[in-house]
Amino acid sequence: MSVALAPSLLSADFSRLGDAARACEEGGADWIHFDVMDGHFVPNLSVGPIVLKALRKATRVPFDVHLMIEEPLATLDQYLDAGAGRVAVHVEAEPHLNRFVQHVRARGVSPGVAINPGTSLASVDEALHFVDFVLVMTVNPGWGGQTFIAGSLDRIARLSESIRSVGSKATIAVDGGVGFDNIAPLVRAGARHFVAGSSIFSAGDVREAIRGLREAAGTPGTLRA
Ligand code: DX5
Ligand code: ZN
Repeated sequence: MSVALAPSLLSADFSRLGDAARACEEGGADWIHFDVMDGHFVPNLSVGPIVLKALRKATRVPFDVHLMIEEPLATLDQYLDAGAGRVAVHVEAEPHLNRFVQHVRARGVSPGVAINPGTSLASVDEALHFVDFVLVMTVNPGWGGQTFIAGSLDRIARLSESIRSVGSKATIAVDGGVGFDNIAPLVRAGARHFVAGSSIFSAGDVREAIRGLREAAGTPGTLRA
């Protein structure tokens, strides 16, 4: 059993995103998390497909695209064309979740559904049968550097149980406030993919931080399945 680490570029120096992506690669990141915000679904604005396409050339690490936008189907192809490795869409933003997922899969990209902290887990029950992963928000999306919301650990454990009980192969990804102190309990609760922005980019050395986070998550020999 291994965990996947996805540093979030939202906490990197935006004047040197290429360098940040390369540092993630050198540090052994499994994915690079790419946060797309439209100023509507969330109050903040970030980056879009043009930046994704440019960064694609800076690294071989696949991009984990998190769409925090309204009407995501309208611009989905732009992210797929730009080289997304996987794409998460918010259940709160997409009424045609199954259509979205089919479209992503048809393009050879891995689809997932993201869920906000205040949204009932029941809203992704049906999606468990057709997505590859559920991205559980453990902060209210919009900014990096926020505090992990208490109670999220129990929420992940409950989702993990639902996934198991319906025989779904979906994996659980966690986004928001993930750091050295909470990654091990999150692994024990059933999460396998971790987005980490401030805990990696505020640490000084990105490569060391990635290695430290992986160590904190546990090694294959010490993880409780
Ligand atoms: C929040 C974003 C996150 C954010 C995580 O809206 O979706 O990916 O960058 O940053 P940290 O790890 O600092 O909470
Ligand atoms: Zn994110």
